[in-house]
Amino acid sequence: MARKVADAGLPAVMSFAGRVDSLKPQPLTMRVGGFGGVAGFADYLRSNAVTRVIDATHPFAAQISRNAVEACRLAGVPLVALTRAPWIAQAGDSWTHVDSIEQAAKTMVGEPRRVFLAIGRMHLSAFLGAPQHFYLMRLVDEPAKPLAFPNAKIVIARGPFTFDDDLALLRTHGVDLVVSKNSGGDGARSKIDAARALGIDVLMIDRPELPDRQEMHDVNAIMAWIAHPTDLGV
Ligand SMILES: NC(=O)c1ccc[n+]([C@@H]2O[C@H](COP(=O)([O-])OP(=O)(O)OC[C@H]3O[C@@H](n4cnc5c(N)ncnc54)[C@H](OP(=O)(O)O)[C@@H]3O)[C@@H](O)[C@H]2O)c1
Repeated sequence: MARKVADAGLPAVMSFAGRVDSLKPQPLTMRVGGFGGVAGFADYLRSNAVTRVIDATHPFAAQISRNAVEACRLAGVPLVALTRAPWIAQAGDSWTHVDSIEQAAKTMVGEPRRVFLAIGRMHLSAFLGAPQHFYLMRLVDEPAKPLAFPNAKIVIARGPFTFDDDLALLRTHGVDLVVSKNSGGDGARSKIDAARALGIDVLMIDRPELPDRQEMHDVNAIMAWIAHPTDLGV
C-alpha cells in the first residue's frame, strides 16, 4: 500500500504505534507513537489537513481501528480499512476456537504440552498462569528483560514466514499445540499450514469485533477509492 501511494506521488504519512524497536524503512514519511486517544487523533487529522485515512493495521489492533473510525467521524475525513480475510479451517485442521487471548490462556490447563505461542510480545503474560507447559515464542524484538516463564524458548524473527521453515520449527521443538490469532492473509499463515501437515492442534483466537466501516482487501481498489472516496461514517 505504501509503495503504491508513494509511486502515485501522493503526500502521505505512515503512522506507527511504536510497538517494535526497529521499523522497516518505508517509501513514505513515517511518524511513531499514539495521538492521545480519539480527540488527539481527530486534532492531528484537522491540523495536518488530512483528507483520507487508510487503516492498514493488523486485525487485532482493535484500539487503533476503533479510534480511527471515531476520529475520522469527528474530523469529517473518509476512512477505509485495508483488511485480509480470516483463515477458515479446512480438511485436516484440528482447531479449537476461543474469542480472546485471555480465553485462550484459560484453556491451558492440564498436562504439560509443547506450545508454539505465536501471539506477539504484548499479551504473553496472560499465559503465566499456565507455567507447566513448554512455550516456543516467536518475537520481532529481543525482550527488554527476561520473561518469567520457567520453560520457554524465544526465536527472534520477522515475517513473512515460509511453510518449510515453520514445519522445521515445529518439528525441531516437538510442538504439539499452536496458539494463534486469526490474522488471515499469507504472511503468517505458514504455521497453520505446518500444523495441519503435522497433525498438530491449533488454539485459534478469533478476531475482535470492530465498528462498522468500509473495508477493502485490494490495494488497487484503495488507490481508486483515494481518488473517489465513499465512506460509511462520514
Ligand atoms: N495486535 C496485534 O496482534 C498485532 C500483530 C501484528 C502487528 N500489529 C501492529 O502493531 C501495531 C500496534 O498494534 P496494537 O494491537 O498494539 O494496537 P492497539 O492496541 O489497537 O492500539 C495501541 C495504541 O496505538 C495508538 N494509535 C492509534 N492510532 C494510531 C496511529 N494511526 N498511529 C500510531 N499510533 C496509533 C493509540 O494510542 P493513543 O490512544 O495514545 O492515540 C492506541 O491506543 C499496529 O500497527 C498493528 O498493525 C499488531
